[in-house]
Amino acid sequence: MSAPESIGEFIAALERQGQLRRISEPVDPHLEVTALAEPVMKAGGPALLFERVQGADCPLAINLFGSRERMGLALNVDDLDQLGGRLKSLMEMDLPDGLWGKIRTALPKLKDLAAFAPKKVKDAPCQEVVLTGEQASLEMLPVLTCWPQDAGPFITLPQVITAHPETGKQNFGMYRMQVYDPRTTGMHWHRHKGGAAHYRAAQEKGQRLPVAVALGGPPAAVYAACAPFPEHLEETMLMGFLLGKPVKLVKAVTSDLMVPAEAEVVLEGYVDPAEPWRREGPFGDHTGFYSLADDYPVFHLTAVTHRKKFIYPTTIVGRPPMEDFYLGLATERLFLPLLQSVLPEVRDYHMPAEGVFHNLVFVAIDKQYPGHAYKVMNALWGQGQMMFAKVIVVVDAEVNVQDPVEAWWEALNHIDPQRDVLFSRGPADALDHAAQLPWLHSKMGIDGTRKWPEEGFDRPWPERIVMTPEIQAAANAKLRKWGLLGGGR
Ligand SMILES: Cc1cc2nc3c(=O)[nH]c(=O)nc-3n(C[C@H](O)[C@H](O)[C@H](O)COP(=O)(O)O)c2cc1C
Repeated sequence: MSAPESIGEFIAALERQGQLRRISEPVDPHLEVTALAEPVMKAGGPALLFERVQGADCPLAINLFGSRERMGLALNVDDLDQLGGRLKSLMEMDLPDGLWGKIRTALPKLKDLAAFAPKKVKDAPCQEVVLTGEQASLEMLPVLTCWPQDAGPFITLPQVITAHPETGKQNFGMYRMQVYDPRTTGMHWHRHKGGAAHYRAAQEKGQRLPVAVALGGPPAAVYAACAPFPEHLEETMLMGFLLGKPVKLVKAVTSDLMVPAEAEVVLEGYVDPAEPWRREGPFGDHTGFYSLADDYPVFHLTAVTHRKKFIYPTTIVGRPPMEDFYLGLATERLFLPLLQSVLPEVRDYHMPAEGVFHNLVFVAIDKQYPGHAYKVMNALWGQGQMMFAKVIVVVDAEVNVQDPVEAWWEALNHIDPQRDVLFSRGPADALDHAAQLPWLHSKMGIDGTRKWPEEGFDRPWPERIVMTPEIQAAANAKLRKWGLLGGGR
């Protein structure tokens, strides 16, 4: 089996596995799709393909990524934990026998890396139909108005593609787009993000920034757009790595941007830094609250290209857990070895759904010296989008941080708040509505590890309560005989 290369392939694979539900009754993209999809997402239900959406000629797919299993299928792994392992094997380049040894081992791996570079193609499904000028319109898309107080319809699952005006390096970012009219949308890239950096570079040069927005394509591309990939690396390499082969790109019709050839639809256009920003939002957001209206750049549509028969892929966000949790989980699992390459003491980490990515991070460490937990929290606040982490809870290595109940139980038992809480300051995610200032907030690090004598704790530290294994095993056998115990405890 290989990773699906298009939304159509992904849907076919989901259907084979009984993980897709087709709905043929007509549905309304104004609030109704959310009201239908949210309970299904919350219940861990299937992907949904709405075949008849009022006002549009195309089906709408939602909740495609909404489970651990489907996210794995999208990225061609049986379990998301395998993602980290794959990346780790690529990163392991150290050999003890000097430089040559290192180079010899690295060479095949570097060759692997080259194999991930994108492939340029001439004919692309996403350009079967080309609409330019007056013909190009967003009206053909069943764009959702997700929640009652949303400022309008929003494109929610886009890959926004820009190129740095000097280096030409492309960025793929997932930034929602509020539809103002058939040819204009908001461009909600937060200031810390790749698209916003390209916008500033274009502004300095006094030129327009070409933008292309891909809808669909390889699920790996959809995922890569929301992955916090380092700025200097191109997401297309990540797509190639995840696909196990190069992602196919085609030149956009009205700009030099390279877009995923297998996309369902591509919106081409530009953002003009000389144009005043426009009110964007409110929007029912990942936090489960509305993000407030603010000013953002404006995207102008110049062309739409699409497959003859296309599907509109979308999502809704809201009170967690929603579909986006699984996109975040893929990032968490994939990036573990990268984190461990700078912080080898990290055994595992987890961002639970209710923490909405940036509000809460649990980290289990192999504690080696006094104050080690503080070193880890400070380092984390300095790693890419981890800079947004509002609360970091550090616990000892044996704690299963994938289970937030266990992590809290351990940490809350092990802290003396006055001694074990560190307050810091740093950049806030735009969605942190409680921040002291927009973009700037305080942070809390909680040292939930066992305290050592060198850390000033000279009383004995109690042990976890665990029954003697043989006695428990014998008791379990009896309980099972009496029908009081199910599976293998
Ligand atoms: C469904 C979804 C919607 C998102 N919407 C936005 C958004 O509107 N603005 C934003 O800056 N980030 C948004 N994000 C997060 C970014 O996609 C993420 O930070 C990504 O790393 C940005 O890519 P970049 O690092 O290349 O800028 C969203 C993520 C998801 C999963």
